[in-house]
Amino acid sequence: MEDHLNKRDHTGVQDFVLLEDYTNPNAFIENLRKRFQEDLIYTYIGPVLVSVNPYHELDIYNAEVIKSYKNVNFYELPPHVFAIADASYRSMRGENRDQCILISGESGAGKTEASKKVLHYIAASNKDTKDVERVKDRLLESNPLLEAFGNAKTTRNDNSSRFGKYMDIQFDYKGAPVGGHILNYLLEKSRVIHQARGERNFHIFYQMLVGASPIMLKHLKLSSEPDKYFYLNQGDSSVLQTMDDQANWRHVQHSLDVLDFTQEEQKALFAIVATVLHLGNIEFGTEESKDDAKVTNIEHCDVISELLGCQEDALLAALQNRTIEAKGEKMKSPLTVDQALYARDALAKGIYDRLFTWIVHKVNASLSNRAKMKCSLMGLLDIYGFEIFEVNCFEQFCINYCNEKLQQLFIELTLKSEQEEYQREGIQWEPVQYFNNKIICDLIESKPLGVICVMDEECLRPGDTTDQTFLDKLSEMIGKHPHFISHSVADNSTRKTIQRDEFRLLHYAGDVTYNVKGFLDKNNDLLFRDLKEAMSETTNLITRECFPKDELNSKKRPDTAATQFKNSLSQLMEILMSKEPSYVRCIKPNDYKRAGQFDERIVHHQVKYLGLMENLRVRRAGFAYRRPYEVFLKRYKSLCPATWPNYPGEAKVGVQTLVSYLQYEENDYRMGKTKLFIRFPRVLFATEDAFQHRKHELATQVQAKYKCYRQRKVYLRMRVSAVIVQCHWRRFLAKRLLERRRWAAQVVRKFVKGFQYRNEPECDENRDFVKFTKMNYLKRLAQCAPKSVLDKSWLPAPKLLQKTSELLKTVCMRNLVLSYVKKISPSMKIQMEQKVVAERLFKGKKDSYMHSIKDHFVDSRLAAHHESHKNSLLATLKQSHENIKYCTYVTKYDRHGYKSRKRVLFLTDSTLFVVEEKDFKIKDRVPFSLINGIQTSSLMDGIFVIVIGNVEENGSKEELKQLERGDLILQSDHIIETLTKLVMISDKENVLKFATNNVINHDLASGKQGSIEFTKGDNYTVKKGKGGQLIVVDGSRSRLDCSDLHIGAVRTS
Ligand SMILES: Nc1ncnc2c1ncn2[C@@H]1O[C@H](COP(=O)(O)OP(=O)(O)O)[C@@H](O)[C@H]1O
Ligand SMILES: [Mg+2]
Repeated sequence: MEDHLNKRDHTGVQDFVLLEDYTNPNAFIENLRKRFQEDLIYTYIGPVLVSVNPYHELDIYNAEVIKSYKNVNFYELPPHVFAIADASYRSMRGENRDQCILISGESGAGKTEASKKVLHYIAASNKDTKDVERVKDRLLESNPLLEAFGNAKTTRNDNSSRFGKYMDIQFDYKGAPVGGHILNYLLEKSRVIHQARGERNFHIFYQMLVGASPIMLKHLKLSSEPDKYFYLNQGDSSVLQTMDDQANWRHVQHSLDVLDFTQEEQKALFAIVATVLHLGNIEFGTEESKDDAKVTNIEHCDVISELLGCQEDALLAALQNRTIEAKGEKMKSPLTVDQALYARDALAKGIYDRLFTWIVHKVNASLSNRAKMKCSLMGLLDIYGFEIFEVNCFEQFCINYCNEKLQQLFIELTLKSEQEEYQREGIQWEPVQYFNNKIICDLIESKPLGVICVMDEECLRPGDTTDQTFLDKLSEMIGKHPHFISHSVADNSTRKTIQRDEFRLLHYAGDVTYNVKGFLDKNNDLLFRDLKEAMSETTNLITRECFPKDELNSKKRPDTAATQFKNSLSQLMEILMSKEPSYVRCIKPNDYKRAGQFDERIVHHQVKYLGLMENLRVRRAGFAYRRPYEVFLKRYKSLCPATWPNYPGEAKVGVQTLVSYLQYEENDYRMGKTKLFIRFPRVLFATEDAFQHRKHELATQVQAKYKCYRQRKVYLRMRVSAVIVQCHWRRFLAKRLLERRRWAAQVVRKFVKGFQYRNEPECDENRDFVKFTKMNYLKRLAQCAPKSVLDKSWLPAPKLLQKTSELLKTVCMRNLVLSYVKKISPSMKIQMEQKVVAERLFKGKKDSYMHSIKDHFVDSRLAAHHESHKNSLLATLKQSHENIKYCTYVTKYDRHGYKSRKRVLFLTDSTLFVVEEKDFKIKDRVPFSLINGIQTSSLMDGIFVIVIGNVEENGSKEELKQLERGDLILQSDHIIETLTKLVMISDKENVLKFATNNVINHDLASGKQGSIEFTKGDNYTVKKGKGGQLIVVDGSRSRLDCSDLHIGAVRTS
């Protein structure tokens, strides 16, 4: 912050508090002058802003400057009216206190301009939402409209406010403007009918005449020349250099639109403005030998009755007559010319004054806060400044009285109250002397010895009362008052400066001599009943509304103008007292509205009466800031751990702890009885900066907590929802389960019942069971029915289906067989037939049968190299037309000595051949007819014996020879195949025999008998026994797993 302080301009001092010679008014004025010359028009006295009117445009109000003053501590930037506005705005937002900005100073010192700047600043320092934009537009547009109707050129100021204005701006809790309300005070309505030289009537008349379209003027029957109207030409100054009436006219039109004035209302409004001008031009004359006033230029009455929508006759009658009520009777009394002129002027003033109030009400309706929520207020007071003219009338008296009151308020709130506060709080303090203008306020408003009271009495008193009798009364009643002088009570030297119809008040701001002419009339503010009645019967919506019929019927005498004004001022004081004030004290540098001219005499005078020197002295001795302990603690407690979040003890002790923690220097502050006083702004700003910083931290914490809270709420809601969903879902599942179980129980029960009744004839109890059992059996059967003919398994059937099962089994088997048979080829068929025969012959009779099953029977077992030898044999056989049906290797055992020999066995259509293996030389030829028997053992061996016999007497030589050779003892590796083939080809099934007792006897040559003994044994062996017999060990044990039976002689290729 020190940095900012260093950046300040260095012309004089920015704050008079820093002035070395702070008790010397000359040093004070010199500082103002120096700064004024550099166009530095603003200077502080602590928090009070002193502004000197530059009388020319300065580039210090643009958007950039507005931005730079936003949210910056008061003393960080050069003094500016924006800084006042910002501090006030922030105090309103931050501490939630209603504010008011009091702008005071003489007429032309720059009050109205300053108030406009404040309004602009407030309007510019808010983010624009649609609603805020709307309100801002209206607030801003209310100014040109009210200025057009309430401001006028005076000799002091070309745009002098001729009414008092207090405007409340309403803000919502976010600090955005949401509405406004205007209170207006005592319009100087005498200006409507009369202007002093060099002055003008209210701006609107001139604006309308030069700005309105010819059509509008024609409609209003007006000429564009102001000088043609009596109410405009008396000041002889209709043209104004500093103002563009035409442009302002357009602005007023725009303002009316923005502020919701309807087209009808605007029409009615301008009709009234025109009416006033026409009224002023009505002239009265008298008919011969009569005093009765008669309107001489009736055309104006025509126009007025047309504009306001009333009967011309009634208007005319009201302007020329007065109804008097005497003893309950009403009488019409004609007016004299003077009276008629008075009535005319009174009507003009009355209409205009009421119109102005109507406009303010309309503006208020348009500014009203639509949301109707509680709002903070910032008041802006711009009221006519203290003024002294050459001739000062009733209006100046009121205006200056108002300024006395404001000065009183300033004293109350700054000088007096500040000093009293120090005393009250027990702070050591050297009292500062200042002039308290209470005495003047009392002179004007107290009862019964006050100017207003005397005036009212004079107005109400029966009998002839004139302005002069009033003045006499004043001199008599309050002539001794030190601030009152009249011709009769003045000392000799003063008497020369005062006329007989004048009195002088020694105001706080200077002596003002008032001329009493018109005081009583103006105070009475009389408008003849006839005229009010005529107005109440118009069709113009404004006059009709402003002159209500109720008023005519009211018997109560209305308060006098001065009393009304006094009452409204005391209300205003109450409003202002209830708010936190900020001050702008305006000073005008010269009387000529000239830029760059600094008249020290004039400025000195204003500095004096504004009490700025006293203000400065109090400031220097005092403390920049004070706050009740509770308030201070509440705002800054977050800066010290001991006081955050709450200090349990007394606030004062809490504040002491807090300031010690913040390391305030001894001289920086004082502890009063209820308040903390901080001497220097920098100390407060450092604290405030720290607070602003801390606020963000706290806000973050609050946000975090809130977000957590909100999220948790969402979570809890979700959880409840989830539980509800779960509940429903579980219920649904449970119900479904229940139904299933119930169903299952029924099924089981039915099943059990069905089972119990299963053997009964079909009935309700067993119908389903039976059906189910059947179906179930059939289904299962479909799955496990035999897939091949060899599979003899069959699903056992329940009793119910025994018969079906049998039938199905048969059908199934048949089907299997059928499809099996269909698949059998012719060769397979032969194979099968042979296998069938083999089975019949050997099954259960010979051990090796089981091993033979899996192998196919073939027609030749010869190796490839032996196949060719077959041909020579074939050639031999051809002759006898025989075919080879089967051939295989065999081992032949001699009948004598059982020597083994390798041989090949051939079977043809009719003969069995045994040939030598190596050359296929035929060794044995046995026609089948010779075969008398075929013997083999029941064991695993491959030995078989062909028993020769049956040779007929006439047998061939060869047959006989064969017979002689005796039986053939052969061994085949494929004995089942070989014997089956042999049996089938030779058709000798019946001769096949199995050895009994495992001994085969066979014939030897010459009728002897040999025998072969078979035994079971591990290794296949064939050897000669000691008794000459052949012993065969079948080798069954070692061959049990053998798939192939390769036994007998080992063959080589
Ligand atoms: N800050 C300012 N900058 C430029 N001109 C100013 C300023 N203040 C006042 N003036 C000029 O002085 C004139 C009178 O000011 P105004 O505010 O109407 O006085 P007051 O309301 O105190 O009677 C304005 O019309 C304007 O020309
Ligand atoms: Mg003004």
